[in-house]
Amino acid sequence: MITELITTSYLTTTVLTCIVGYLVVQLLRRKRYKLPPGPKGWPIIGSYLTLTSGKYELRDLLNMWAKEYGDLYMFSMFGSRFVILNSYDLVHEAFQSPDFNDRAPILPCNKALNRSNTELNLLFNLKCELSIIHNSNFEDLVAAEAAKLIKNFASQEGTFFNPITDIYVTVSNVITGILTGKTYDYNDEEFVELTKRAQQVFEWMGPGSFFYHVPVLAYMPMENNKMGDAAVKGMFDFLEKILKRHRQAYNPEDEPKDLIEAFMHEEANKKAQNVDVGSFTHQCLKQVVWDLMLGGIETVSTSLSWYFLFMAQYPDVQAKVQAELDKVIGRDRLPSLSDRQNLPFTESTSVECYRFCRLINVQIPHRTRCDVKLGGYDIPKGTNVGTNASWLSSSPSLWENSEEFVPDRFIDKETGLYNSKLEAGLVEFGVGRRVCPGEQLARTELFVIFTHILHRFTLRLPEGTPITRNGINGLTHHPKPYKITAAPRR
Ligand code: HEM
Ligand SMILES: *[C@@H]1O[C@H](CO)[C@@H](O)[C@H](O)[C@H]1NC(C)=O
Ligand SMILES: *[C@@H]1O[C@H](CO)[C@@H](O)[C@H](O)[C@H]1NC(C)=O
Repeated sequence: MITELITTSYLTTTVLTCIVGYLVVQLLRRKRYKLPPGPKGWPIIGSYLTLTSGKYELRDLLNMWAKEYGDLYMFSMFGSRFVILNSYDLVHEAFQSPDFNDRAPILPCNKALNRSNTELNLLFNLKCELSIIHNSNFEDLVAAEAAKLIKNFASQEGTFFNPITDIYVTVSNVITGILTGKTYDYNDEEFVELTKRAQQVFEWMGPGSFFYHVPVLAYMPMENNKMGDAAVKGMFDFLEKILKRHRQAYNPEDEPKDLIEAFMHEEANKKAQNVDVGSFTHQCLKQVVWDLMLGGIETVSTSLSWYFLFMAQYPDVQAKVQAELDKVIGRDRLPSLSDRQNLPFTESTSVECYRFCRLINVQIPHRTRCDVKLGGYDIPKGTNVGTNASWLSSSPSLWENSEEFVPDRFIDKETGLYNSKLEAGLVEFGVGRRVCPGEQLARTELFVIFTHILHRFTLRLPEGTPITRNGINGLTHHPKPYKITAAPRR
């Protein structure tokens, strides 16, 4: 009884001391730093209740904050700080600096991966060492998958169908093709399951994935976390199966044929030479495979889902792209990457589809490595800093008629050629040392799959379908399910 009392009062004292200590530290910090503006929030929980009360949609709330506080604002939850950048200049200034280039880990994924690092992404480091990623644009692989998608569209025989799952399968196959040299059937249940899981992981993270960078929230046994954990686990189970199969089949004597083999090859080489294997461990391999799957499936699939929807919504633009393809390529072969420079309207249209769909709301945050200054404010070490990409792609200060679909926006008025400099404002793949390592692959996929489908089919929506670019907001902004017909072109 007495010990119990003592323990309770001891506990109460400890808790109280902690809270008071915390408040004092917060107050001192406020004095010492000139922090960016932002919603005040409560002690400890910060803006958590405001963000989750259900009074506002997350998107509307962020919208209000963006309006109220402008180019750079800060909010916090349970001691984790978030800064949102709503300015092209600030994004450039910040991410050119190495002090902004740690990554805010997605905690549930790190838990599953047993990784704690916020160091530079592995894939990024290994890119240089694994020539298989470095030297190849994977055009043949992508074209082979596009051919399957064409067959699949053709098999719909002009009836209305929802293309989104098939697009996911196509893009996922490109990734598994690179990783394992193996691709899957459209009705392989295990594989369709994987693509669904990948979608779920993104949906569950939500815009900015804010809650999953906050330790208390990421590990709380909430319904949403259970859904996320299950999705992450589903992906990992699939991944372990692939790796196991590969380890068994792999013969170090053979030339590596895919990324996993190249990785194992390097690991075996290093072991044979008795040098430190460094990052070439099973744990790191798992991480690389995971990064490729998570980074490479949802982004490209969702973009293509929008691209096809927009073509069906703007039949005149679609016809103009097809006319250019017919003129430059003809009807006897399919477009290839080497044709790109001769297809300015097609290129420009594809980038405008990207801009118009507002694919990413808030890019996966960076984390500050030390105390830094930005835009006249102090940003403390360990702050998560996210680019508001949806602002970058729609701001009237960067784009004329920003709310309109202008397919030739990226064509240089003087030369009549597509000019990649005109798309710089989008920052689609990030800025600085943390840029997307999949950019080249993504661009190959978007070009090849988009042009091959339009070369072969005319896409149409049911008569009278309202034109919209409002979709569903997860980590990416994806279209609501839609149905199109794909009429074969002769
Ligand atoms: C339309 C397609 C894509 C878009 C718009 C996109 C965009 C991005 C952005 C904005 C970032 C963060 C950059 C930063 O923090 O500065 C990123 C990171 C990343 N992306 Fe992509 N990406 C795409 C496709 C891909 C593909 C195909 C892969 C895989 C091959 C991939 C793998 C990754 C990885 C692993 C990271 C993390 C890099 C790091 O933390 O250092 N992405 N991507
Ligand atoms: C990003 O910018 C858009 C457009 O200005 C705005 O509606 C949105 O609320 C902003 N998001 C954040 C997180 O500030
Ligand atoms: C997790 O990582 C730590 C340190 O990197 C390592 O010691 C431990 O064995 C790992 N655990 C599992 C289950 O892989």
